[in-house]
Amino acid sequence: MKHQPLLLITIDGPAGAGKTTVSKMLARKLRYEYLDTGALYRAVAWVVRKAEIAPEDHQGIGQICELLQLKFEAGRLVANGKDITDRIRSPEITMMASAVSALPVVRKALLDIQRKIGKDLGLVAEGRDIGTVVFPHADQKFFLNATVRQRARRRFAQYGKNGNQTLEEIEADILRRDKNDSSRDIAPLEPADDAVLIDSTEMTPQKVVDFMMSTISNLGIVC
Ligand code: DC
Repeated sequence: MKHQPLLLITIDGPAGAGKTTVSKMLARKLRYEYLDTGALYRAVAWVVRKAEIAPEDHQGIGQICELLQLKFEAGRLVANGKDITDRIRSPEITMMASAVSALPVVRKALLDIQRKIGKDLGLVAEGRDIGTVVFPHADQKFFLNATVRQRARRRFAQYGKNGNQTLEEIEADILRRDKNDSSRDIAPLEPADDAVLIDSTEMTPQKVVDFMMSTISNLGIVC
């Protein structure tokens, strides 16, 4: 069998663009590891909230980050020895993750953790600054986007029935997060210069993955 190169692939983009679904599908297809970096920011938000530290207390959040131990174990996120996978998706933690992610101390702590996880190639990593800051030398970078209405619809379909937010509320939260994430001073949400841009508004996840596979076939992967 032909030797396949092990690649580092980054998928950045705003909330609801389809990054998680597509990254997992792509990682499965390539038999690569998958890294959800948003979960790490959510973990910081969860620990900060649990410790009852105010979001304005940057020094307190810095101390939390210094001591924070984060790892993925069989797809579960473990923070300071506790499995928090099912506790980090609430609207409150979601907004708080966006807020704490603007703090330099948080980004610095998570940068090391992400690079450690990504040191072995054969990885699909998703987030906001993966192609620009975390892995600027990635083999292939994608930036996935869609209209805000479509992104809100997807979130609503995902959480809507069991969640307690209307489509309009979800859309308003997404717009606020887009603004926070793209206007912060460090590592704002933006495509890397060498990222391939994909608008997934009218595309199924499978269509997006097929397009990505055809793009990375240029790197020597046999699709
Ligand atoms: O992808 P997500 O919705 O789980 O991310 C939650 C928040 O974390 C997002 O609003 C901004 C922040 N984040 C970030 O700043 N950089 C990343 N690489 C990933 C997420």
